Amino acid sequence: MALKKKKNKIGRNDPCPCGSGLKYKNCCLRKKGPIDLKGLYFQKYRIRLKERADIEGIRKAGRLVLDTFHLLENEIRPGIITDDINTLVHEFTIKNHAIPAPLNYRGFPKSVCVSINEVVCHGIPGKQVLKDGDIVNVDITSILNGYYADANQTFFVGTPGPDARKIVKVARESLKRGMSMIRPGNTLGDIGWAIQKYAEGEKCSVVREFVGHGVGFEFHEAPEVRHYGRRGEGIPLIPGMVFTIEPMINLGRKEVSILEDGWTVVTSDGSLSAQFEQTFVVTEDGFESLTPFNL
Ligand code: MF3
Ligand code: CO
Ligand code: CO
Repeated sequence: MALKKKKNKIGRNDPCPCGSGLKYKNCCLRKKGPIDLKGLYFQKYRIRLKERADIEGIRKAGRLVLDTFHLLENEIRPGIITDDINTLVHEFTIKNHAIPAPLNYRGFPKSVCVSINEVVCHGIPGKQVLKDGDIVNVDITSILNGYYADANQTFFVGTPGPDARKIVKVARESLKRGMSMIRPGNTLGDIGWAIQKYAEGEKCSVVREFVGHGVGFEFHEAPEVRHYGRRGEGIPLIPGMVFTIEPMINLGRKEVSILEDGWTVVTSDGSLSAQFEQTFVVTEDGFESLTPFNL
């Protein structure tokens, strides 16, 4: 009896049985009541969980991002230059008492990323002319009352050809598959797994160098959200986590290169690349998009 009792006793320095990864004495042994998940997720993962008021603030920033997309939908057509998109986004954001997050972010010179065809992401607006049959990704991040919301969409310019249709369809469905994995108890690995399995099953490839990210208080927070991975691996999702999913999907190979400007990311094989991004909050029973648009 005595021996059995000793064997079953959890030591103060043993891992806590709640699965937090902390020592028992620093976790559930403490007589402080329920575990402080906010402190735990910050301590363990540097993740800043959001409270109700924070989520409302991010949702408002997200509404502005969506309004900006609605403005653009009527303007994207053959003949305009990417700088025109920048001007529209910049002026609309300022008019709505918000700040375009990309401007001067780590030296980025413009207020929005505009990425055409083989440009994967971080295209710098300029004199590039949109042509019939192009695909163009517009990535908008607004800061409203200190809260960040981040979303992007890929648009057809004029009439798309079969390759354009294919890559945009697969990129859109990739985000859908990823977001459908968001619920407490699932992990970040489940999201990456669902995306990779689908996109590679469609004979497309998933870019590895750029990931989704925590967002809300800053542009890029912990955690990194990979668009590839293994089921059940990685950080468990819990309510109050706010992050983006933004898979970059290539029609050809997954490798990318960065141009001389230090920003523009292109597919190394010159194949088309498309992307959709939304900002999500994990809720008790699943998720809510804070930048909801139809996929
Ligand atoms: N909006 C991009 C993202 O989804 C980041 C752009 S960084 C910039 O994370 F500097 F290029 F704007
Ligand atoms: Co993002
Ligand atoms: Co973005």
